[in-house]
Amino acid sequence: MFRTHEVKDLPSVEIGTKVTLAGWVHRRRDHGPLIFIDLRNRRDLVQVVIREKDFSATEQEGLKEAIRPETVVQIQGTIQARKPGNENPNIATGKIEVIAEKVVIINSAATPPFVLDDPSVVVGEDIRMKYRYLDLRRERLQKNLLLRHEVVRAMRQYLIVRDFIEIETPYLSKSTPEGARDYLVPSRFQPGKFYALPQSPQQYKQLLMVAGLEKYFQIVRCFRDEDTRGDRQPEFTQLDIEMSFVEQEDILKLIEEMYIHLVKTVTPEKHITFQPFKRLSSAEAMSKYGTDKPDLRENKEDPNELAFAFILDFPMFEKKDDGSLGAVHHPFTRPRVNNVEELKITDPLAVLAEQYDFVLNGYEIGGGSMRTHDPKMLQAVFEILGHSPDDVQAQFGHLLEAFRYGVPPHGGIAPGIDRFVMILANEPNIREVIAFPKTGDGRDLMMDAPSSISEQQIKELHLRIIK
Ligand code: AMO
Repeated sequence: MFRTHEVKDLPSVEIGTKVTLAGWVHRRRDHGPLIFIDLRNRRDLVQVVIREKDFSATEQEGLKEAIRPETVVQIQGTIQARKPGNENPNIATGKIEVIAEKVVIINSAATPPFVLDDPSVVVGEDIRMKYRYLDLRRERLQKNLLLRHEVVRAMRQYLIVRDFIEIETPYLSKSTPEGARDYLVPSRFQPGKFYALPQSPQQYKQLLMVAGLEKYFQIVRCFRDEDTRGDRQPEFTQLDIEMSFVEQEDILKLIEEMYIHLVKTVTPEKHITFQPFKRLSSAEAMSKYGTDKPDLRENKEDPNELAFAFILDFPMFEKKDDGSLGAVHHPFTRPRVNNVEELKITDPLAVLAEQYDFVLNGYEIGGGSMRTHDPKMLQAVFEILGHSPDDVQAQFGHLLEAFRYGVPPHGGIAPGIDRFVMILANEPNIREVIAFPKTGDGRDLMMDAPSSISEQQIKELHLRIIK
């Protein structure tokens, strides 16, 4: 057996027990005839004492040479109570220590490029990204990843007991309009054709409603080729939800109850400012706060305040920079009109949509809408957006075809997980809650991606690189 206990198990182990531990040397201190090691598993530490009298002089010298921070060791020893006055109230194992009887150096560590055991030391972003696996050993990111795990676990549990089914949808797919550029993947079998990595599973989840699944969710990666910012990464994760036979109110209620539950279970120290969550129309938000994602906290200095809000009644269409019309959310959103004729005779910019944004402390942490389930209405929306019939057929023919076979009224929402966890963790950037994020210019400095590909690959994919 490699180890009998993990460090986290030790507080409940009886004094005098023989244990075998394995982990990283977090710190080492020499006090004359004693070497003290803080041995680390994840975020848990225990003090190990190597006494001169238990090892030969050469062994002791060898250990002094070999035991450096981040060295991986296996230690056999006995749990002993610390002497009164030597206890460390800051760690869970602070009342005990392990008296080492055997030390095996499993793997030595080069000196890390930055200090891992002192959170107050500021480390440059590039170095943190390049050595992300070392950055991830630090308490800050360990804590954040654990929090993220707890959030995702609680989301899953919440939805599963409410009869939602978790379903995976393809990543190699076709462009779905969510307003950003697509990441494209060339096809080897179909020269000149490309898959698009999904900006969201929007069309798939609607097709799952056509397929009769009724309540779907997925913790899913989305890909958007847009400029990276503090709250924006080229790949990010959504809690994607879609439901049939519901109205807007059902979805808002579900989300409200779920987020109250999430906060209670995962970060009980936080308090929610408005229950029920505040609701504002987008016009009201713009006129009162000058933004459609207002920060409604009563005390912006309070790290534990969560001011959730729903922003409602967005316009369906907006004028894009080039003067043409775009969908504010996406074209599948249901316009607030009674019938196709009404849509056709109304000024598009005056049409509202059954769309809602979910906002927290000044961030958009989710967005969704009720969908158009009438194929004629969907066709009319595409026309207003300036799609020619051929274009509609090529881009969305599959959806219109599917809608011929009995489509239920449906709607959904997609809360962003990265932004929510960032806010819960009081972090300034979603990079801090993603294990392997990209830099501002979309690079992975650790893997060195994107990178060149071989001539052979270029040929197989029928591509030509223009320098
Ligand atoms: P939308 O495009 O509003 O809706 O996205 C939903 C939520 O995803 C998060 N988000 C991001 N997080 C990090 N980095 C990004 N680049 C990024 N882009 C978006 C935000 C946002 O509110 N298919 C629809 C949902 C639906 O209609 O059901 C959609 O994707 O928190």
